[in-house]
Amino acid sequence: MLVLGIESSCDDTAAAVVENGRKVLSSVVSSQDSIHAKYGGIVPELASRRHIESIIPVVEEALDAAGVALKDIEGIAVTQGPGLVGSILIGLSFAKAVSFGAGIPFTGVNHIEAHALAAFLFEQGPEKETPGFPFVALIVSGGHTTLLLYKDFTSYEILGQTLDDAAGEAFDKVAKLLGLGYPGGAAIDRLAKEGRANAIEFKRPYLSKGNLDFSFSGIKTAVLNYVRNHKGGIGPDLLKDVAASFQEAAVDTLVMKALWALESSGAKDLVVAGGVACNSRLRARIAEKAQEEGIRLFMPPPKFCSDNGAFIAALGYHQLKKKLYGGLDTNALPTWEGF
Ligand code: KG4
Ligand code: ZN
Repeated sequence: MLVLGIESSCDDTAAAVVENGRKVLSSVVSSQDSIHAKYGGIVPELASRRHIESIIPVVEEALDAAGVALKDIEGIAVTQGPGLVGSILIGLSFAKAVSFGAGIPFTGVNHIEAHALAAFLFEQGPEKETPGFPFVALIVSGGHTTLLLYKDFTSYEILGQTLDDAAGEAFDKVAKLLGLGYPGGAAIDRLAKEGRANAIEFKRPYLSKGNLDFSFSGIKTAVLNYVRNHKGGIGPDLLKDVAASFQEAAVDTLVMKALWALESSGAKDLVVAGGVACNSRLRARIAEKAQEEGIRLFMPPPKFCSDNGAFIAALGYHQLKKKLYGGLDTNALPTWEGF
């Protein structure tokens, strides 16, 4: 089954064509970073306006790159939440219109739940090994930090989630206060490579032993206080140390909670996905732990960790197989338990 995946929940307009929920025939992402960078964060109204301009060219490019026409598409998967409501409406309305016009069924996909299915995608060559159920997924993005236990492609339990800021949000806010621009996760990652991770001891927000919820606002405030109170200002070397020490505290927390989630659920397989899963230190630390503890780790390549249409199509495929079709007349975004 060829599924067209459409994603517009935040600031990227993306579309992809995926075969049988796994083989990526094309994946096109149109980034809006340059539009929002000067405001230091996403401006929702500008994001939805740009989605309107981009959605048709992005979908056409995805079909062309896959070498298929709309008549070859057997199902449409579109992000229906969570995200910025104006942004979601563009992708969702577009998908409904194409579904109606071309007579193709569509299904609305939960963005966070879909992030984990990036672990099933491949592009070239033989099919890769895939996670076995039940598996734990650590989804770390700009909007969410969540531990899920997948029992099947479309059924899971929420093990823990952030009580305040998402991990990516903490990276972005710390980057902003360090003057590194927006979005700042990748900038912290780059700068931290030249700094000392143990230079400043930022308190790890573990909450309590075994607690699978997250809290990142405390580390962010600790960095802010450190920067404000440091006499003599933050020179280039200290800036690297602050970036590396903050990153280490955030990564420590993510790695620890992922391990606790495996321990408490008894699952052996771990998926790490979402934009923050592009972080080189997180990737290295979690890979090291997985090796030590005999955990089967599935960490998609960075281009499938950050937002794209391919993981939307991957989950959409399983929903469409179960005939979980979206209705053209439902304009309210369904609420999704737990989020
Ligand atoms: O999953 P994603 O593309 O969009 C959302 O669904 O939010 O995640 C975007 C987030 C941003 O906060 C960005 O700063 C962060 O992922 N990010 C990173 C890195 N690359 C992207 N955070 C830390 N290190 C990185 N290398
Ligand atoms: Zn995302």
